[in-house]
Amino acid sequence: MVAQIAPEQTTIDEIDLDAPEIPEGLSDEEYREVLHRLSVASVERKFDAFADIDWDHPDFEVRHDDPRWILPTVDPLGGSQWYRSQPVEKQIAIGLWRQANVFRVGWQFENILIRGIMQHVFSLPIHSPEYRYLMHEATEECHHTQMFQEAVHRIGIDVPGMPRWIRALSPTFSLFANRFPVVFFSGVLAGEEPIDHVQKAILRSREEIHPMMGRIMEIHVAEEARHISFAHEYIKRMSPRLKRRQRFVVSLIYPVLMRILGDAILVPPKEFRRAFDIPDEVIHELYWEAPESRKMLSDVFADVRALAEQAGLMNAVSRRVWRALKMDGRPARYRSEPPVRFAA
Ligand SMILES: [Fe+2]
Ligand SMILES: [Fe+2]
Repeated sequence: MVAQIAPEQTTIDEIDLDAPEIPEGLSDEEYREVLHRLSVASVERKFDAFADIDWDHPDFEVRHDDPRWILPTVDPLGGSQWYRSQPVEKQIAIGLWRQANVFRVGWQFENILIRGIMQHVFSLPIHSPEYRYLMHEATEECHHTQMFQEAVHRIGIDVPGMPRWIRALSPTFSLFANRFPVVFFSGVLAGEEPIDHVQKAILRSREEIHPMMGRIMEIHVAEEARHISFAHEYIKRMSPRLKRRQRFVVSLIYPVLMRILGDAILVPPKEFRRAFDIPDEVIHELYWEAPESRKMLSDVFADVRALAEQAGLMNAVSRRVWRALKMDGRPARYRSEPPVRFAA
């Protein structure tokens, strides 16, 4: 049952801050075993940004008149009436800019993540189960930043990536990695889940995409599966160990972080709107007023909603935050559950 709250008279101690029950979670031994398995998989199935991508293959050549750069319809802008009614050359130009920008946001985000991981592992105890796994993750993210940067370089458009204010604050984020690791790894998920969701949606849609994009996405989706697994296991384990009030605060920060970092990836920045003269109403409608857009926003965060339920980060107040941010909906039944799509 959902607790009723009257904010004026209710103190924090009276609110049911806890999720109905927080599942036991993994034993220490099981947790070590999961991290060990992820580490072994990182050794057995890994990719190098240059050995595993044949950048100079003729199929990978980036031409600015190639219609395969037109945005896929799973992208809110790509599927919009406004975009589809533009001349083909403009659709291609927008597609190139937008996809280059997503790659740039990706590598800026991963750069912040690597800095945070280094900060976090620096003070881990010697037998920490996280050390080995996190160093594998940092290695993989180094390759991803090279892969994304090379793609932007080959597309050849000087895109800004994240909104300016996030770039300006970026040196401070890694400080959370030591002091507030649950918040830090929630931020990690907030960056990883949207990009992973969009890449999987594009691959699943079977629309024709440029082969360079396809190769990068395949590699990225394969390795992110481990990173996302780790962040889920870590949050599930550590969140119930927080003090009650701390967990309550984290339960409110968690959806806000998801939305801010999700928007950094999903919503095209100001520079983009200006460069292509996109009317403000179109952007306002697509991010996130239109019913299909709302559905997408809800779908993107289905896995992290399920995690919030499992980690004790869903309570009567945080549910309101999820709803206010338009990210509510049912939690995913299992990780990466594909959203239901009906044929038009
Ligand atoms: Fe990555
Ligand atoms: Fe990652």
